[in-house]
Amino acid sequence: MQPDLSSGSYTDLLAVLGPDDVLVDQDLRAGYEVDWTRRYTGTCSAVLRPRTTAQVAEVLRICATHQVAVIPQGGNTGLVGGSVPRAHSHGPVVVLSTRGLSDLGPVDSDAMQVTVGAGVTLAAWRNAARAAGVDAPLDFAARDSATIGGAIATNAGGSRVVRYGTMRSQVVGIEAVTITGEIVGSLAGLPKETVGPHLPSVLAGSEGTLAVITRARLRLVPRFSHTITALVSLDSLAAAVQMLGRVRAGLGSLDSVELILPGAMELVSAHLGRRPPVAKGSAYVMIECADHVDPTDDLLAVLSTLDGPEGGVVDTAVTTEGPSRDQLMEFRDRITEAINAAGVPYKLDVAVPVAGLPALVEIAEQAAVTYGGRLIPFGHLAEGNLHLNYLEAGDPAAIAELVLTAVAAAGGTISAEHGVGVAKGPWLRLVRSSAELAVMAAMRSAWDPTGLLNPGVLSPVSSVAD
Ligand code: FAD
Ligand code: MLT
Ligand code: ZN
Repeated sequence: MQPDLSSGSYTDLLAVLGPDDVLVDQDLRAGYEVDWTRRYTGTCSAVLRPRTTAQVAEVLRICATHQVAVIPQGGNTGLVGGSVPRAHSHGPVVVLSTRGLSDLGPVDSDAMQVTVGAGVTLAAWRNAARAAGVDAPLDFAARDSATIGGAIATNAGGSRVVRYGTMRSQVVGIEAVTITGEIVGSLAGLPKETVGPHLPSVLAGSEGTLAVITRARLRLVPRFSHTITALVSLDSLAAAVQMLGRVRAGLGSLDSVELILPGAMELVSAHLGRRPPVAKGSAYVMIECADHVDPTDDLLAVLSTLDGPEGGVVDTAVTTEGPSRDQLMEFRDRITEAINAAGVPYKLDVAVPVAGLPALVEIAEQAAVTYGGRLIPFGHLAEGNLHLNYLEAGDPAAIAELVLTAVAAAGGTISAEHGVGVAKGPWLRLVRSSAELAVMAAMRSAWDPTGLLNPGVLSPVSSVAD
């Protein structure tokens, strides 16, 4: 149980937000206190729901005055426990939900940019772009709930990173509020500006520990009229890695290259009640191309160079836009949902240089055998990004120690796109030196001297591994 807010802070917050947007009843708070996977949970003193930047500033000023800890929360689809209250904390804690910051500005077709509130979902960003004949450069399965603020705060990735980069590369302007209520940033959207550190880059990946993001100016990209998707089964993961080089070099229209390993394919097929439209393989790669002219011939030409035993291709299914493509995409898009339906997963989100993927999967399997668990592996092949999910994990901390140590030794990272949250804190030491951790801590205390913003997150001493 968290202590109640002091009567002074409660009265001040009510005066700014009104009773409908200061939630203290347990049943109203409940949905904000548990994460998407159900692994991370805690209680807060209240959930605050500001609707404007000015309200966010007032709320943070009140929290700073009364020393109330603040957990920023967007769509609450984060997978590292960073958006919900900690199980144990000292003093009052509030969840600051940004979902009410939902303004969507007009699409600027000349600049190919749009200004959106932090609470706008990825799907709403994409829909607005498409209505104006352009597109959003970022996409992943949580699109209907994940927010712009959350995507910036986690530097989210997804399937189109091979073409457009992560969320960091999409932010051309930002507005944020510090814990003392100062509004900082610019939404001018200047693609070129060199006057010291770039604020959008500083806040990308900061996981709610530096400031609350309230609005962003985002880049837009062309909307392609032709899309083609292929599912390829291969006889080994090494063959999939080899194929990656060919498709990257040969396809200017390449939009995504996703990886599904057999454990994940079996689980999602059972969940969907459908078999994949290709023969069984030891690895499956989903390739998407999009262009203003039909890229089918280009894709088929590259795939034909891989036919035969040397290419390792077992079978291929190809589909263009329409219901059959949507059905094919579900074998990748709905894996996370299938995992959650099977239990509460222990999730690792790592990346290594692509040549190191086969060795990493072996270690991940060994971790399951040694410490207990059923491994469900899949990810984003182009970035060497593997999602290693363990169902019924026996000893999550031991699994993490083995896998993350191997990842670091291979020159990889302990978090490719989900962030550190409270889940990966103890393993930060594997990828950041003590000098780097000291710089990170100094930066954090410059923004938030009394440590009220998302305490425990992105912290090498937190340890909520299981
Ligand atoms: P939340 O979960 O609410 O918060 C995440 C973190 O950001 C927390 O630390 C929180 O404090 C902070 N935060 C949120 N809003 C703000 C703000 N306005 N200001 C400051 N800090 C803030 N992620 C990927 O990168 N790629 C994927 O392919 C992907 N696929 C997913 C698929 C599914 C089905 C699910 C459930 C999740 C997936 N995720 C993926 C993870 C998740 O969706 C992303 O991390 C997303 O960016 C989180 O957005 P959110 O609004 O839900 O943030
Ligand atoms: C994905 O790529 O689908 C995700 O990042 C979600 C997950 O890891 O479960
Ligand atoms: Zn992912």
